[in-house]
Amino acid sequence: MDENWRGNLPQIAARKTGKSRYSFVPLFMNELNIQNLRVEIADREIVRGLSLTVPCGEVHAIMGPNGSGKSTLAKVLAGHPDYHVTGGAVTMDGENVLELEPDERARHGLFLAFQYPSEVPGVTIANFLRAAVQARMPEGEELEATDYYAKLYEKMELLGMDRSFTSRSVNEGFSGGEKKRTEILQLAMLEPKYAVLDETDSGLDIDALKTVAHGVNSLRGPNLGILLITHYQRLLNYIVPDHVHVMVAGRIVRSGRKELALELEERGYDWTREEAGEMAVR
Ligand SMILES: Nc1ncnc2c1ncn2[C@@H]1O[C@H](COP(=O)(O)OP(=O)(O)OP(=O)(O)O)[C@@H](O)[C@H]1O
Ligand SMILES: [Mg+2]
Repeated sequence: MDENWRGNLPQIAARKTGKSRYSFVPLFMNELNIQNLRVEIADREIVRGLSLTVPCGEVHAIMGPNGSGKSTLAKVLAGHPDYHVTGGAVTMDGENVLELEPDERARHGLFLAFQYPSEVPGVTIANFLRAAVQARMPEGEELEATDYYAKLYEKMELLGMDRSFTSRSVNEGFSGGEKKRTEILQLAMLEPKYAVLDETDSGLDIDALKTVAHGVNSLRGPNLGILLITHYQRLLNYIVPDHVHVMVAGRIVRSGRKELALELEERGYDWTREEAGEMAVR
């Protein structure tokens, strides 16, 4: 079946119910929808006609060999200025994402946890997150300090982070695992509608992996869609995805349920490459 069949649901629903044209039919689905996306950097096409739909409430995992364009996709969704979109469309709940500036995308509910989080010397986690949470609030509304700290400490506890981190500069001198936890702390504080997590598991020891997975799972629900980029089936034992996609050379070449991740672990990527090659020949 066409991978983006969900996009047709409103029309199908209207036809099935046979309701008059005055009955309520949603104009869009609650989903992050990527259609035939093409992205270039330095005159090289990295994302080559990628289509993917992440409905709100679902967790979709993307796996794929090094260099297949997974982080490029994540950065393009967030609005990284170095990458040029040369074709296709990205919508979030029906809204054209590609027209929005990176900060507008964040305000509209899109979040990216980086594969390699940046250090921000001189800006404490407490101040950084406070500014970010405030920026997402409606104009004229002021974030209450007591509410903010109560929530911050609650989320830090959930992620097994010591409170002393609040007064440290963002990611400065953090271990790999501490940086990844800080990314998920941002996710927990910002409560986005769609979150792209780029290798949030890499560099985590087994206990930290469980803690971070527990943090992500506690945020799962009907109001959050997650796109989880990972190399390891192990993470998917803890954050069980609704769908798994394989990305090879800038395209999704195969999609399936969580069992697909197990198959990849067993068989590697060569067979998906071969199938993708056959698809291209046909
Ligand atoms: N800023 C850049 N300048 C030049 N080439 C780039 C840039 N960013 C990405 N690329 C190239 O695009 C290709 C895809 O990179 P990307 O980081 O998206 O892969 P990935 O699937 O995330 O890989 P990994 O699994 O290793 O994280 C690579 O060949 C990379 O060298
Ligand atoms: Mg990557």
